[in-house]
Amino acid sequence: MADPQIAAGRRLYDQLNCAHCHKVGGKGGVVGPALDKVAGGETEEWLTRHFKDPRSVTPGSVMPKLNLLDDEVKVLVAYMKSFHAEEPFTKAAPKLFTENCTACHKLGKEGADSGPDLSFIGTARDKAFIKKYIEDPSVSMPASAMPAFKGQLTDVQIEDLARYLSAQGRF
Ligand code: HEC
Ligand code: HEC
Repeated sequence: MADPQIAAGRRLYDQLNCAHCHKVGGKGGVVGPALDKVAGGETEEWLTRHFKDPRSVTPGSVMPKLNLLDDEVKVLVAYMKSFHAEEPFTKAAPKLFTENCTACHKLGKEGADSGPDLSFIGTARDKAFIKKYIEDPSVSMPASAMPAFKGQLTDVQIEDLARYLSAQGRF
């Protein structure tokens, strides 16, 4: 944890008493979610918008709008991103990958080469990016050669795959 932004974010977290509502490392309140379990899986854009005004992304949120300065938002986001969300995937995820993705992608030894090798995707992309990509690649890459899977797979299956891939190469 040598990153000064992360350290500044942690100090601000203490000063602003976020622990009144949130747990980190098992300590804190239960009004909001345990941040080390969920926040690392969000995108920086989402976290930034949420810090500026929680209700703009979570309608009805009871988390207060804190009138934070841009620099304060930035360090809090860095602190949140330091939590690697370890969201479990199900046993179905590797099978879903084999059925839908190995026609183009490699993962470990398995798969083909018409898309990028995804063996280390978890070190480069977060879950939110991967999920959006699977749903509709053209949103992130207009000339994408990859088919959209929204409608082909259920939302639960896409979430499962995104968790599975965001863990690749990280452990
Ligand atoms: C009064 C209680 C309260 C306080 C104080 C509070 N929060 Fe929250 N927070 C919540 C609740 C409830 C949610 C869940 C609803 C939502 O997403 O807005 C939440 C959601 C979040 C999320 C989104 C988690 C996710 O990935 O879905 C983050 C990040 C967060 N809070 C960080 C903070 C930080 C950092 C502070 C201190 C600056 C803080 N909160 C202060 C209640 C609070
Ligand atoms: C027909 C071939 C094809 C299939 C099937 C396919 N992909 Fe892709 N995928 C690609 C190609 C090609 C790219 C490179 C960029 C582009 O064209 O979108 C890519 C890019 C990606 C990326 C972005 C990688 C990055 O670092 O930006 C992810 C994530 C991904 N694919 C996941 C999947 C998953 C998960 C499945 C199965 C549900 C899947 N793909 C099925 C061809 C495919």
